[in-house]
Amino acid sequence: MSTNQFIPINLSKKDINGVASWSSPSNIALVKYWGKKENQIPENQSISFTLDACKTITKLTYTRKETVSTEYSFQVFLDKIHKPDFEPKIKIFFARIENYMPFLKEFHFKIETENTFPHSSGIASSASGMSALALCLMSIEKELKPEITNKEFIKKASFLARLGSGSACRSLEGDLVVWGKHKNIEGSSDLFGIKYPNQVHENFKNYQDTILLVDKGEKQVSSTVGHNLMHGHPFAQERFKQAEENITKIKDIFESGDLDAFIALVESEALTLHAMMMTSMPYFILMKPNTLEIINKIWNFRKETGLHISFTLDAGANVHILYPENETEAIIEFIKTELVAYCQNGHYICDRIGFGAKQL
Ligand code: PMV
Repeated sequence: MSTNQFIPINLSKKDINGVASWSSPSNIALVKYWGKKENQIPENQSISFTLDACKTITKLTYTRKETVSTEYSFQVFLDKIHKPDFEPKIKIFFARIENYMPFLKEFHFKIETENTFPHSSGIASSASGMSALALCLMSIEKELKPEITNKEFIKKASFLARLGSGSACRSLEGDLVVWGKHKNIEGSSDLFGIKYPNQVHENFKNYQDTILLVDKGEKQVSSTVGHNLMHGHPFAQERFKQAEENITKIKDIFESGDLDAFIALVESEALTLHAMMMTSMPYFILMKPNTLEIINKIWNFRKETGLHISFTLDAGANVHILYPENETEAIIEFIKTELVAYCQNGHYICDRIGFGAKQL
């Protein structure tokens, strides 16, 4: 599929100034994206639950410049504090998307952003942050080209968000989003995320995700570096094949509602992601001792109670505990009595499946 479809034609040059505001959530992958080609094209397909409570709220104030300059002009504020150290990342993002947003240098932007989760929680804000910014920029494009449909708007926002941070393209809609072209998922693409188009059993409606904050420090290895270490990785091709097969398997699981099969697939995906890190060269470990303590406790508790508690991990030490809504009471009790002790300062966040970004 060509990227040319995202180059806008007939954009108005009218003199607009204004404010665009969006909230956009984080997401947690069930089948993980790890490894990419040039231009943020994923090596394998991924699928995620969109989250509800963990989100970024971004307000973009745009003012048309009197004369067009050759530089981008913007300032970034996090929680009302000017953050010049965030600006190089935004500059790279603007440079990547300029071909598709040819008006970027015609405006001055004030980007004001805040997260509903603590900045230093170890929860990546790149998915929610980049998708919120992409949506704000799309609101400007819509002003310049009002005939754009809602479907095109979301698709292009996802396309742009992907260029900011791969997994960000899965944050715009909910409750499940697929990214990466897959033969069994109609409409799927390497260029943007799509709302999962197939049947989903009641068991997965309103699934819960309690995030245990095991380590709130800065990661030793960024996901950009981690993705790159999949080039020449001895197990890479097998891993990409496995992810493709797991998408087919999870499609059947979503249809049948088989919670045990879901648990096995999701936990295997999480551990495989970390196994890829441990077998990279150079190798690295992002899990902490408490991550493993929690995993073992979950396994024992599941064995004892028969409840459908499972875990997944992203590129860090925190643990996402996933469970069906009707088991919430017993599982929250278990988290409070047995697992909070392994969280940094006892911190955890109760989240659940959400339905995507919202214009404010
Ligand atoms: O979007 P990135 O480049 O930060 O990569 C995210 C990778 C994982 O979170 C580990 C997996 C995923 O699919 O979200």
